[in-house]
Amino acid sequence: MSMDFTDQRLSYEKGQLDQQSVPASPFELLNAWMNEAIGAQVSEPYAMSLATCGADSKPSVRIVLLREITDTGIVFYTNYESAKGQDIAENPNAEALFFWHQLERQIRISGSIDKIDANKSAAYFQKRPHDSQVGAWVSQPQSGEVANRTVMEQTFAQLQADYPTDSPVPTPEFWGGYEITVNEIEFWQGRANRMHDRIIYSLDKSGSDGMANWTTKRLLP
Ligand SMILES: Cc1cc2nc3c(=O)[nH]c(=O)nc-3n(C[C@H](O)[C@H](O)[C@H](O)COP(=O)(O)O)c2cc1C
Repeated sequence: MSMDFTDQRLSYEKGQLDQQSVPASPFELLNAWMNEAIGAQVSEPYAMSLATCGADSKPSVRIVLLREITDTGIVFYTNYESAKGQDIAENPNAEALFFWHQLERQIRISGSIDKIDANKSAAYFQKRPHDSQVGAWVSQPQSGEVANRTVMEQTFAQLQADYPTDSPVPTPEFWGGYEITVNEIEFWQGRANRMHDRIIYSLDKSGSDGMANWTTKRLLP
């Protein structure tokens, strides 16, 4: 059955973005927009689409949760042996995307991915709720086929018995964080008549002081 959405359109009129008044660092704007999204009670504003592409040149996209904004990039956690982990091992280039409908905003972040320090991953793993820790052990290898749900539930129950609530769950070696070190960030603010504002920051490390310099451009919508 086909569906037709060609009559569906909204006018975006909630904000604007001016190249002259954006901060010099995109991280300042990213933090400000994230705070505004939290303030506007966007549901899970840190949920982002993550696009990767392995050696087969076939892009894959899925949602992961942003867990940290650092001075150089953004961090999420996953299973290193998942399909995305395989992609990243073959090709470290990736893009992440946020879309916050309530604010009519999109943020597009591209860069290269690296595993974060194993001690930092372990520290975060140990902060997670006990049963989420158990769940990480069940999902190994994440993205591998499982015969049915019962198999998963039996493994979960067995691991809960092995690691009762008051006993620590070891951090799996196959699980941890990745940081996307940012090369470009595009901020998109919807405007009326499809005249949207798009400001893109690109990293230019050629600054004489050796510090990261960012240049901005306005893009056609
Ligand atoms: C709201 C939401 C949050 C998610 N957060 C994560 C996450 O932080 N890490 C993760 O590995 N998968 C997360 N997932 C599941 C992924 O979208 C995906 O199904 C899983 O990581 C396997 O992806 P892959 O087969 O491409 O490796 C989340 C899914 C949703 C819908």
